[in-house]
Amino acid sequence: MLETKVLKADLEEDLMMAAFLIKQGELVAVPTETVYGLAADASNSKAVEKIFIAKGRPSDHPLIVHVASFEKILKWAKDIPIAAKVLADIFWPGPLTLVLKKSDLAGDVVTGGLNTIAIRVPKNKAFLRLLEVLDTGIAAPSANPHKRISPTTSEHVMYGLSGKIAAVLDAGPCQLGIESTILDLTSSIPKILRHGPITKKMLEDVLKVTIESPEEHSEKISGNMKDHYQPYAKTFIKSLKDIQNIISLSSNLHEKIGVMHYSELVGEHKNIVIRKMPQDKLGYANSMYDSLHYLDQMGVSQIFVEIPSAEEDWRDVLDRLSKASAKNNIF
Ligand code: TXA
Ligand code: MG
Repeated sequence: MLETKVLKADLEEDLMMAAFLIKQGELVAVPTETVYGLAADASNSKAVEKIFIAKGRPSDHPLIVHVASFEKILKWAKDIPIAAKVLADIFWPGPLTLVLKKSDLAGDVVTGGLNTIAIRVPKNKAFLRLLEVLDTGIAAPSANPHKRISPTTSEHVMYGLSGKIAAVLDAGPCQLGIESTILDLTSSIPKILRHGPITKKMLEDVLKVTIESPEEHSEKISGNMKDHYQPYAKTFIKSLKDIQNIISLSSNLHEKIGVMHYSELVGEHKNIVIRKMPQDKLGYANSMYDSLHYLDQMGVSQIFVEIPSAEEDWRDVLDRLSKASAKNNIF
């Protein structure tokens, strides 16, 4: 067991300690605008291997490499299409990951043996500073144990990985709270592999072409596995009416249950831990993982989530909730 240090992103000496640990080949959880990432020097395959051990992640699941600016992707990717530059000019730094052909320098440990690489420039100031100081690419999946809920605070990271990583660099809650959009640019039609804050429409408006977003694709993409992002409590997506019924029967409950809703609920609710969610998409996405973590930690046996909006820009939220409840809902 390691003693995981909690470092503060606004303290220069802590930031330099995080840089030093990464340079030494250690793992440090770092803040990004999406979720906390588990960082290792992408050019050090021994360090990258530690990510898979700490997370319990299968070794053929590729990682995202983070770099300080568009120019730095040249080291990791080749045959870069013009669309990558057009998108980077608009969305980087930010929550868009591009899948490109990998360069010979990009190691197999990072790419899970694929001939492509996922890459992005993150927006968090402290993380960008680390990338500049270290002048390398940083491989970083979300800093949670494999298949569990992504972390949006340093406390979430500690809950899942304390004792398994050298440090966490705390910069408070993540600004967006949901993982980046992943766009594959390696074939003639760009394809969304994971929905995220940059929507299909936002991408199409910039590229002026139709983008594919298949419901199902290769299982290699771990975020695409049906049972990802799982709370410990059994999770269900339900209509408001069903949730209302559950609440009306709550006085007979023998164990605590959790409810995440955004519509108005009526009636007394005993034995129920409630999280009232924001009604706007950004607000909802921002507190989604935090609410699932909170309900889990309150020791509820089941979580009932009111079915979110079916609007296109809610696709990422619906995707993560469907996976959180995959064992229990039939979609
Ligand atoms: O917002 C994010 O993207 C966060 C922060 C830390 O940057 N990272 C993140 O990483 O969500 P992770 O490992 O939890 O999810 C990355 C996803 C995985 O589903 C992985 O399979 C996919 O990206 N991926 C990585 N490389 C790929 C590639 N070459 N082709 C297709 N998918 C890839
Ligand atoms: Mg993840």
